[in-house]
Amino acid sequence: MTTRTSESRTPDPAARLRTVGADQERADARDKVLGRAPYAFEHPMERPCYAHAVLSAVPRGRITAVDTEAARQEDGVITVLTCENAERLASTDDAELAILQGPEVAFRGQIVAAVVAETPEAAREAASLVRISYAEEAHASELKPGESELYRPETANGGAGTDSELGDLDAAMEAAQADPGAIALDETYLTAMTHCNPMEPHATIAVWQGDELTLYDSSQSVHGHRDTLAEVFGLDRARVHMVCPYVGGGFGSKGEPHAHSVLAALAARAVPGRPVKFALTRQQMFTLVGYRTPTYQRVRLAAGADGRLTGIGMDAIEQTSRIKEFAEQSANPTRTMYAAPHRRTTHRLAALDVPVPSWMRAPGECPGMFGPEVAMDELAERLGLDPVELRIRNDAPSDPETGKPFSSRNLVACLREGARRFGWQDRDPRPGVRREGRWLIGTGVASSAYPVNRQPGSVAAVQYRDDGCYRVDIAAADLGTGAWTVLAQIAADALDVPYDRVELRIGDTALPKATVAGGSSGTAMWGSAIVAAAEMFRKRHGHDPSPGDHAQAETPGNPHAERFAMHAFGAQFVEVRVDADTGEVRVPRLLGAFAAGRIINPRTARSQLIGGMTMGLSMALHEETVTDPRYGLLVNHDLANYHITANADVQRIEAHWIDEDDPYVNPLGAKGIGEIGITGTAAAVVNAVRHATGVRVRGVPVTLDKVL
Ligand code: MOS
Repeated sequence: MTTRTSESRTPDPAARLRTVGADQERADARDKVLGRAPYAFEHPMERPCYAHAVLSAVPRGRITAVDTEAARQEDGVITVLTCENAERLASTDDAELAILQGPEVAFRGQIVAAVVAETPEAAREAASLVRISYAEEAHASELKPGESELYRPETANGGAGTDSELGDLDAAMEAAQADPGAIALDETYLTAMTHCNPMEPHATIAVWQGDELTLYDSSQSVHGHRDTLAEVFGLDRARVHMVCPYVGGGFGSKGEPHAHSVLAALAARAVPGRPVKFALTRQQMFTLVGYRTPTYQRVRLAAGADGRLTGIGMDAIEQTSRIKEFAEQSANPTRTMYAAPHRRTTHRLAALDVPVPSWMRAPGECPGMFGPEVAMDELAERLGLDPVELRIRNDAPSDPETGKPFSSRNLVACLREGARRFGWQDRDPRPGVRREGRWLIGTGVASSAYPVNRQPGSVAAVQYRDDGCYRVDIAAADLGTGAWTVLAQIAADALDVPYDRVELRIGDTALPKATVAGGSSGTAMWGSAIVAAAEMFRKRHGHDPSPGDHAQAETPGNPHAERFAMHAFGAQFVEVRVDADTGEVRVPRLLGAFAAGRIINPRTARSQLIGGMTMGLSMALHEETVTDPRYGLLVNHDLANYHITANADVQRIEAHWIDEDDPYVNPLGAKGIGEIGITGTAAAVVNAVRHATGVRVRGVPVTLDKVL
């Protein structure tokens, strides 16, 4: 029988938003702790078999012979897939995904064969016995400005303009050089090649039933992946089904489908009637699921004696793969951060024989905040100005390149609030003068920013059930970010019912379509669809619905989208201690203050912000994928050699936010918090290292050799 509870009340506006903003514990916490939340590889299957991939051992060339004899004779081996026997794909337009379609090798670590066996161990052992001969060709696998051939991509990632120009930067630099009180700064900064390395390796289970394909895949976007794979296999979208209720981290590497998902489906095709389970090894993840390109950033700043910028320039040089373009939009933040009449930004790429780069937390904004925010610190020092004050003086009243007003811009408030909480006001600006025993001590600051990205096309459905609960369906993804929790909070308030009256379902293409968990847009886009569906439900069915009543709605367009520039802002403050003898850098204190619109859940928000800051700390001190250009090999392709900031590296870390009411960004007033924490952090660390030691480091990670 139906139980009717609070929903027969008329909505009280003051009672709304009682769940949004609450410190709600994670909806999935208990299941995760008890091991009841299945990750991709763990979904139970009947009579599964297991695939293991063989990767190319040369960076460029052609396969001339494949010997699978020894592999086939291993106990438990069912079949071996190679470029000679694998099924032809319907679409090979995406060269990253078009695996086993021909003998060409485009980078070292590309999938060139796979073994399917009764056990993962047998598959792995047999994979080691596959013998492949290559005709190797000359290759270029290392980005070298001055040597690598550069080209101008048509656009940067996300449709960003490749170049931008306002006024005359060269003239502004010359004028600043000629004026004895002014400063013209022209320096080049480096960020390393880095890899996402989520805890859960990329994994896919593929099941064919006739011409229907079901994939259990660790994904930031079940519909996005479904659509792409349907195209690759030439299937109607309705024939491909993807399931992904839980994700053990992604950071962008699960934002677009990669070759392993195609391989799982190809392998399952070769063993009719049986599901194939396939997980990449940690080592294989280094070449198959994307990474952040290294960047070389020429930053130019021209400023008068008062610190006001007259010119800003950013020229980014990056790599992409020869077979598929990815143009990291690293000059983007320079276009928005500070006011100056003369401005110029460019992106140039080298197409190399390397794995395909892709999204990594705050693509563009993260590397692109590094050079400029270190340059601002250098400028402050040369002008004898406090670096917080320099940034405040150059705050932009409107978006510098488009002239649009900001929907809200609270960079200055973040700088002031962060400085207050950190205790910045007593800072002695002189570098290299504080010492405790063998530790040199310093503090640094940098700004952070991230755009409010919009993605059209998410749909939410609300249905009233016969037990008095509302079922809310949307194929969103929770990467550990808190989507399970915050979407239920948003739904509860939108329906004006208690949180525990909402049953949320996400992560399945059987549910209404959702856009990618990326670009820090998920909560706002999915949440806006949920709000719209709840409003439609109430309009249709009132506050006394009957079981089965339902409504469905799409994320509405934003009427303010074209009128305003929309960004979240923040400021990071860092204390470092540098060992005077060894150059070891420790970070006892890391504090961020952010303005990111309405915070839906302080618990999950804090986790996202400190997670981003920790990843920025990792970029500053630890993460660097090293290429051996002789062999096109990513040398340190495992977690023993690729260092990531761990608990012991993070001591006092704090994320704060200011109350920000932005009525223009979306009905929730939320700007997105997944990525802003990583932007700026590495620059703040490097600026603190300068303050501690007197050494100006212009490339991350700050390894010992750069400090000593
Ligand atoms: Mo994030 S790199 O937008 O998944």
